[in-house]
Amino acid sequence: MADLRTRYLGLELPSPLVASSSPLTGTLDGLRRLEAAGAGAVVLPSLFEEDLAEDAPRPGAGHGDQAGYGAGPAAYLSLVEQANQTLSIPVIASLNGTTRGGWVRHAARLEQAGADALELNIYYVSSRPGLSASEVEGNYLDVVREVRRAIGIPLAVKLSPYFSSLANLAGQLVEAGANGLVLFNRFYQPDLDIEAMEVLPALELSTSTELRLPLRWIAILHRRWGISLAASTGVHTVEDVVKVLLAGADVAMMTSALLHNGPDHLRSVELRLRDWMDGHGYETIDQLRGQLSQRSVPDPAAFERANYIKTLASRTAPRR
Ligand SMILES: Cc1cc2nc3c(=O)[nH]c(=O)nc-3n(C[C@H](O)[C@H](O)[C@H](O)COP(=O)(O)O)c2cc1C
Repeated sequence: MADLRTRYLGLELPSPLVASSSPLTGTLDGLRRLEAAGAGAVVLPSLFEEDLAEDAPRPGAGHGDQAGYGAGPAAYLSLVEQANQTLSIPVIASLNGTTRGGWVRHAARLEQAGADALELNIYYVSSRPGLSASEVEGNYLDVVREVRRAIGIPLAVKLSPYFSSLANLAGQLVEAGANGLVLFNRFYQPDLDIEAMEVLPALELSTSTELRLPLRWIAILHRRWGISLAASTGVHTVEDVVKVLLAGADVAMMTSALLHNGPDHLRSVELRLRDWMDGHGYETIDQLRGQLSQRSVPDPAAFERANYIKTLASRTAPRR
């Protein structure tokens, strides 16, 4: 039977199926369920920079035992400690911050609490016309350097896809101390309610069609700097998992699929992954990883085409 072990951020994982940061990973019970369903690692919800200011409000009741999403650092550290003691899979803590400052010391606290690695989530919507792209990227790099200095555990940076020169930024992030990249975060986009005349915070779950963006960038960045790569956004089915592994990912992360189908979805994807590997003659994840990355395919430019004339021309108008 296929061996699903993989390495991510220097950690040994029993499976490449990882539960990404979401409310599902915010309680010990949720984490136990994910491990029991076959998660190879778990990423906790983000602890946000604004929660870490000395005067940040501390909601009490109402959040139950949920960590992250405004519950404050004490609940978060306690979850990291308990998860570390209870689970045998790696526990990755997550910090969301975009400016240099005192909040960075919490990275060290997460390490002391037993986090096996840290995921740093650094996106914000830059709406100031006076702020250039290179200044925004410079801020991100400063934050990564500071967090890197604060901790000894591996550091992954979770990025958005909205950069003009992603490969360049990725290289600078690696220089600044990132051991891995999570491609990509997915944000809620505000919608408009045209009856109530209001802005609505709309969060819809992803579908497999959104896999193409991480797939392209994982294929392009595979084996560039010897860093780990995680695919996030649009991983729902076993086909999606096989695709990101073939492109060169070390792990396939899931949130929407688990929110939609429940944690046990992991078990069925794992079974199908084993079947697929057996059926296609793969014994290990290593044999599979990167087989269709940009460096491995006969036509590497296929990953760089944005307006491929044949593809565009093949879309004809529907017949009436
Ligand atoms: C309800 C919800 C909460 C999330 N919370 C976080 C978070 O705290 N930190 C983070 O880095 N990503 C967070 N994410 C993003 C997911 O980890 C993931 O990157 C994104 O949903 C794309 O993957 P998917 O297509 O598998 O859903 C959240 C997503 C959802 C749907």
